Amino acid sequence: MTQDNERTFLLIKPDAVQRGLVGRIIGKIEDKGLKLVALKLVQVTPEQAARQYECHKGRPFYDSLIQFICSSPSVAMVIEGRNAVSICRKIMGATAPDESQPGTIRGDFSLDLKHNLIHGSDSAESFAHEVAVYFTADEILNYHLDLERWIYYS
Ligand code: RTP
Ligand code: MG
Repeated sequence: MTQDNERTFLLIKPDAVQRGLVGRIIGKIEDKGLKLVALKLVQVTPEQAARQYECHKGRPFYDSLIQFICSSPSVAMVIEGRNAVSICRKIMGATAPDESQPGTIRGDFSLDLKHNLIHGSDSAESFAHEVAVYFTADEILNYHLDLERWIYYS
């Protein structure tokens, strides 16, 4: 079912910030017609990283993932729009660098499984969990984009 005001949580990871890709990554999200409703530069703490990735606790890559996410600033954001969770996952591209398609963020800019530039919620449930790690309710803005009548026909 389509949902025009669905929200998702995205984290532009330390490798993307260090490589100067923040503007181009946000540009891909905006180009699609999605709306930015919260945005901040964050130095992720080990506690925040552990909460965000608690579903991966115990996996062989968990410790290095937490260390990487905390290694340098990231950009946290909330994005709103029609089917934002699944659309953003498509714009991000597949996790593995040999599977991510050209035109996606990972497909265009990443060669490595860990240095894969961006995290995105994979469900409404994971959004609810992840957004609370990085944002308070009053940091997420409700506003109308005048362009929306040219983005959504029905
Ligand atoms: P993310 O959570 O970061 O958005 O990435 P994802 O959904 O595409 O992938 P996920 O399976 O949730 O894995 C989280 C992150 O862990 C790293 N990873 N390393 N075998 C490995 O060494 C391995 N598998 C996953 C990746 O950086 C992935 O983004
Ligand atoms: Mg994931």
